[in-house]
Amino acid sequence: MNKRGADGSAGDADYGTIGGGYADHRRPDERIAARITEALGLSRTVLNVGAGAGSYESTELDVTAVEPSAAMRAQRPAHLPAAVDAVAEDLPFGDGTFDAAMTTFSIHQWSDFEAGLREMRRVARGPVVILTCDPDLVREFWLYEYAPAILDTEARRYPSIETIARTLGGRVSVRPVPIPVDCTDGFNEAYYARPERLLDPRARQACSAWSFVAADERERYVEALRGDLESGAWDRRHGSLRQQPVLHGSLTLIRAIPS
Ligand SMILES: C[S@@+](CC[C@H](N)C(=O)[O-])C[C@H]1O[C@@H](n2cnc3c(N)ncnc32)[C@H](O)[C@@H]1O
Repeated sequence: MNKRGADGSAGDADYGTIGGGYADHRRPDERIAARITEALGLSRTVLNVGAGAGSYESTELDVTAVEPSAAMRAQRPAHLPAAVDAVAEDLPFGDGTFDAAMTTFSIHQWSDFEAGLREMRRVARGPVVILTCDPDLVREFWLYEYAPAILDTEARRYPSIETIARTLGGRVSVRPVPIPVDCTDGFNEAYYARPERLLDPRARQACSAWSFVAADERERYVEALRGDLESGAWDRRHGSLRQQPVLHGSLTLIRAIPS
């Protein structure tokens, strides 16, 4: 059973507190969007669960959005449909209502992700498409040297890819998603070549893992990064990343179709 926060937030992060400014820093990236479009295939009616401000919702498809947080629903642009106030674990739709269901950067927050995935499978006739991060890979990012508790939090929250695949069942494909050097969607790894961006508190606030670590600890992490950027130590260790066109990090796309 979901406990809902003051603004309706249903996951482990309180978007009533951290959600403001999300849409400014988490703008959908068109190259990642293209992979989601490809995974949705010929689907016309699509359910987007944990839809937030509407990232990765195609205006060419008939999309129904579900989003429990009022702060996030309020950031949806006018050209997208209003989101239904509901939770993944209890979707208010009949069996097989949609051609497909999708969710991006959300399942790690659900109180019962397996129930939510079963619900997505139930209401979609065709593909269920999940954009998430592989918990086995998140600590490989250089940020782990500076902010270990942030990435430990990420690794703990993200369900394993294997469990997601098993829960969805059917025919499942798992594809790593390369992260472009100028990725417009500001999740932590998106800044692999632009470490200075993580000095901005609003950019960090748009990545919910930062909200689980005490403020003084977060400050220590940021100051360590700032110091290494000023001294050149970061660039000596990782500077080649600034010229690397993509990062093969933890971002993963899972697609399941009924067998
Ligand atoms: C990081 S945001 C991602 C938003 C959007 N999908 C995107 O890619 O920008 C995570 C979203 O999942 C939503 N969420 C958390 N728990 C949920 C649940 N149990 N059911 C549905 N949505 C949930 C949050 O309210 C938040 O909007």
